[in-house]
Amino acid sequence: MSSTPLLRLLHFLLLLLPAPLHDYCFPRLSSGGLDVYHPLILFAGFGCPDLEARLTEAYTPSVPRCGALKGKGWFPIYKFNTLDLVEHDYVPCFQEQMALVYDPVHNKYRNLAGVETRVLNFGSAYGFSEKQMVPDRENLCLVSLRKELEAVGYRDGDTLFGAPYDMRYAPPSEGYVARVQKLVEHASSKNGDKPVILVGHSFGATAVLGFLTSTPLPWRNKFIKHLLLISPPPPTGFTLTITQLTSGPSVFQIATVPIMELRPLWRTFASALLTMPSPVAFGHKPLVITKHRNYSAYHMEDLLLALGFTADQTLPFLRRRTLEVEAPLVPTTYIIGGGIKTPEQLVFWEGDFDVPPENVYGEGDGTVNMASLLAFGKELRRQQERNNVHFKALAIANATHAGIVLEEHLLRMVMTEILQANR
Ligand SMILES: *[C@@H]1O[C@H](CO)[C@@H](O)[C@H](O)[C@H]1NC(C)=O
Ligand SMILES: *[C@@H]1O[C@H](CO)[C@@H](O)[C@H](O)[C@H]1NC(C)=O
Repeated sequence: MSSTPLLRLLHFLLLLLPAPLHDYCFPRLSSGGLDVYHPLILFAGFGCPDLEARLTEAYTPSVPRCGALKGKGWFPIYKFNTLDLVEHDYVPCFQEQMALVYDPVHNKYRNLAGVETRVLNFGSAYGFSEKQMVPDRENLCLVSLRKELEAVGYRDGDTLFGAPYDMRYAPPSEGYVARVQKLVEHASSKNGDKPVILVGHSFGATAVLGFLTSTPLPWRNKFIKHLLLISPPPPTGFTLTITQLTSGPSVFQIATVPIMELRPLWRTFASALLTMPSPVAFGHKPLVITKHRNYSAYHMEDLLLALGFTADQTLPFLRRRTLEVEAPLVPTTYIIGGGIKTPEQLVFWEGDFDVPPENVYGEGDGTVNMASLLAFGKELRRQQERNNVHFKALAIANATHAGIVLEEHLLRMVMTEILQANR
């Protein structure tokens, strides 16, 4: 794949790292050397947090079988290994109990009546797991990065933490901000009041950004040393968000269940509509092409209606805050991949949105379109610089959305940035 268009696009915005890469070189911590480092909190990607559920008397199952766990306390509902759900024929119940209900009056999402949910292992860097037994995929949930951090002396519960979230909500979900604030304060006080480094990958970057921008600026200035956003899904949107609505959620999988079966559930999530492509990044370019009609980023409401959303169901999209990029206003490093062919336009020629589209590819990280990564980075930079807050952007050629935290040489670059943030 040629990286020439990437280089052209990046020239004023981003600093492209030279190849060959330099090995990072820093002292491994000896015991007693921990005061060298700032405490660090990880925010892994979309499918990584584990969720538990509890069914109360208020729950009315659509089929009696789904009420079997009523009154029986907390049970794992979205957790490694999701094959259990399949083996116990629980997938239809899972779909019902994981669904969110949108309340148009208060513009809020909530669980189905009688279903309570909670995130497992909040606070731990071990609180993230892959949900599928796919070889080499466990590392998607920042496992490799965690191991690298441990190799330089970071320890879970002492200097290293994790802030799993409920991925169904557009972050932050209710209660999350206060909870992470407490975790940050705990991490800091445990480490001689040193401010904390926050590292988010993919949707974890969305979560950490949503968290930070909901806190008072003086609090941020006191407690946050640095923020690293790695391959964040930009609020300016990307085309794959549409594909997930038509063909099922590739980011929210359950062992052996075809993703198309999870489409109705997926469409209830607040997060499903969060990154619809916006005109800021895509202008008038047709993103969905049929023989009778094209849809650009200006026509996303019409598209949702064409996909079978009711007018009420499009409300959260119309009311979303996404186009307002809000910079964190703490020292930030923005790390993205690029130079990978990425679906940009979707052709559903016959207008049948239930069949997989034919992709027309453009530039990106394989998941997110470069136009949007650049638009987002540019706006972050503008706001940070206007407020005299440090902002560094790195685009790594030939790095995919997930590969950036999986492949050794890329991980090394990420580690270099983390260690630099420690200075
Ligand atoms: C849709 O977009 C395609 C690609 O840009 C273009 O060739 C076609 O004429 C457009 N069709 C309609 C109906 O506007
Ligand atoms: C791009 O990355 C892939 C996977 O790591 C590697 O096999 C390939 O050689 C790389 N290509 C270039 C041009 O660096």
